[in-house]
Amino acid sequence: MQLANVVSALAITALAGLASAQNANNTVVANVQALNHTVDGKDYTLATALKLAGSVQPVVDALNNSKNITLFAPTDDAFKAFGAANPVQLVTVTSDPALTQKVLLYHTVGSKFLPAGQPAKQFIKTGDGNNWIQVDVNSGKVMLFFNGGNATVIDSIPSSNGIVHVIDNVLQPPPSAVDDLKKEGLDTLITQVQAANLTSAVSDLNNATLFAPTNNAFDTVLGFAKSNNLTLNATMLAGILRFHVVPGTYFSTDIAAIKTAKLATLLAGQSVNVTYDGSDVKLYGAGQTALKLAPATVTKADILVAGGVMHIIDAVLIPDLNAAVVSGNDTTGANPNSTTNANGTTTTNNGTATGTGSASKSSAAVLASSALSVFGAVAAAVLLI
Ligand SMILES: *[C@@H]1O[C@H](CO)[C@@H](O)[C@H](O)[C@H]1NC(C)=O
Ligand SMILES: *[C@@H]1O[C@H](CO)[C@@H](O)[C@H](O)[C@H]1NC(C)=O
Ligand SMILES: *[C@@H]1O[C@H](CO)[C@@H](O)[C@H](O)[C@H]1NC(C)=O
Ligand SMILES: *[C@@H]1O[C@H](CO)[C@@H](O)[C@H](O)[C@H]1NC(C)=O
Ligand SMILES: *[C@@H]1O[C@H](CO)[C@@H](O)[C@H](O)[C@H]1NC(C)=O
Ligand SMILES: *[C@@H]1O[C@H](CO)[C@@H](O)[C@H](O)[C@H]1NC(C)=O
Ligand SMILES: *[C@@H]1O[C@H](CO)[C@@H](O)[C@H](O)[C@H]1NC(C)=O
Ligand SMILES: *[C@@H]1O[C@H](CO)[C@@H](O)[C@H](O)[C@H]1NC(C)=O
Ligand SMILES: *[C@@H]1O[C@H](CO)[C@@H](O)[C@H](O)[C@H]1NC(C)=O
Ligand SMILES: *[C@@H]1O[C@H](CO)[C@@H](O)[C@H](O)[C@H]1NC(C)=O
Ligand SMILES: *[C@@H]1O[C@H](CO)[C@@H](O)[C@H](O)[C@H]1NC(C)=O
Ligand SMILES: *[C@@H]1O[C@H](CO)[C@@H](O)[C@H](O)[C@H]1NC(C)=O
Repeated sequence: MQLANVVSALAITALAGLASAQNANNTVVANVQALNHTVDGKDYTLATALKLAGSVQPVVDALNNSKNITLFAPTDDAFKAFGAANPVQLVTVTSDPALTQKVLLYHTVGSKFLPAGQPAKQFIKTGDGNNWIQVDVNSGKVMLFFNGGNATVIDSIPSSNGIVHVIDNVLQPPPSAVDDLKKEGLDTLITQVQAANLTSAVSDLNNATLFAPTNNAFDTVLGFAKSNNLTLNATMLAGILRFHVVPGTYFSTDIAAIKTAKLATLLAGQSVNVTYDGSDVKLYGAGQTALKLAPATVTKADILVAGGVMHIIDAVLIPDLNAAVVSGNDTTGANPNSTTNANGTTTTNNGTATGTGSASKSSAAVLASSALSVFGAVAAAVLLI
């Protein structure tokens, strides 16, 4: 079921709230339910939807059992506008409780968000467990950014176990990274991800940062490979692509704060260097330095994707080629049984690979299933040029 269906269904099934005054001694759920649809010209249908949808009673219970939470509650108008903008076939909320629950929990944060003293921009993990939202505070005005949309906090209700922030738009959890790659026109990366059989891994990020090279970036590196008679097969590509995924979420705000960092990647043993000089964020793997290739520059930052964040970069990142080959050790960490000979071929004795990427059990497992040691073959071939 499409997200739009769920949200429309929420809007349609939502009824007027109960009549009683909200106050700081009530829970967030009680306060939202207490709001009267017809009185203030505002309605807070999320709680009504919560109440009506038996399938998400666990969400209500979770909210009630939490001590110190934030609930972003869209107004009735927000739901109506969303439904109008997304005229899709209506389905019942209960037909996909898991998705309903996910949408609802994307409207929650596990701590009490008070605007005072907050930075101008930050990224906050939402209650659905695997997603983030951008929260900007400007002169006390709070704006939320998600998946290309935004919402403004128009009212706040302190509650006994947290706070309700009333918002003027329905929040939509970010789509999979693959959907965002499509939206951003990163066709070559999509093709490469498919060729490397990593589509499901990229779709299934968990607490990770994806650096996504532009089409031109790939043209450059594929042209380089071609003019040097290198064939980048699926296993090699998987290694290169894996070097573009960093466990943990590094938003622009994090990189600006740390300025210089050496970030571990899912290509075990290979880190990417990141620098922020006050205007640009640049990245380079040791391979770029060795081959005298320019660092990559982030051209578009902070695209929220399911399970993390994506930054678009203008060059393909190349890991340390020497370490993988010259030492004779498989520093990709992929498989101690694999060897790379001077011909630029890698032999993997038992065809298995190990990976230590920790970004996601599922993505790490899938990524690890690629024999990444073969990246050494690229290295050897490049070194022979
Ligand atoms: C909302 O308030 C109006 C005016 O006080 C009242 O007539 C109406 O019954 C209330 N609606 C609900 C659902 O409590
Ligand atoms: C909230 O609870 C406190 C302490 O129990 C009480 O003094 C206060 O009157 C209550 N406020 C409201 C609005 O009910
Ligand atoms: C509640 O959340 C606020 C803001 O995140 C935090 O400062 C405070 O310590 C928390 N209180 C408790 C009791 O956890
Ligand atoms: C918020 O979204 C609206 C509607 O899409 C858009 O017109 C507006 O420019 C956005 N505001 C910001 C600050 O991005
Ligand atoms: C592609 O990856 C999936 C896991 O996502 C795996 O089950 C499948 O065997 C892989 N196919 C090939 C040809 O490697
Ligand atoms: C690539 O292969 C072509 C044709 O076999 C050959 O002429 C050319 O010298 C090779 N280039 C390199 C860099 O090995
Ligand atoms: C995300 O990953 C980073 C790096 O592995 C880790 O330090 C952090 O605890 C993780 N956060 C969550 C919420 O899983
Ligand atoms: C990356 O940074 C570390 C120190 O932060 C440095 O030792 C290393 O040489 C850098 N790597 C490259 C390729 O410049
Ligand atoms: C290869 O790796 C092993 C174990 O990490 C290490 O002890 C050894 O010194 C390495 N050899 C070379 C040539 O780097
Ligand atoms: C390497 O080969 C040995 C002997 O065949 C095997 O026991 C071991 O599990 C292999 N290691 C990996 C990581 O595949
Ligand atoms: C290069 O490849 C050929 C053919 O596979 C093989 O016979 C030869 O031993 C290889 N050379 C080295 C140094 O591995
Ligand atoms: C990719 O190329 C390397 C080196 O030529 C080879 O060992 C490996 O089996 C190839 N993998 C695939 C999936 O073709």
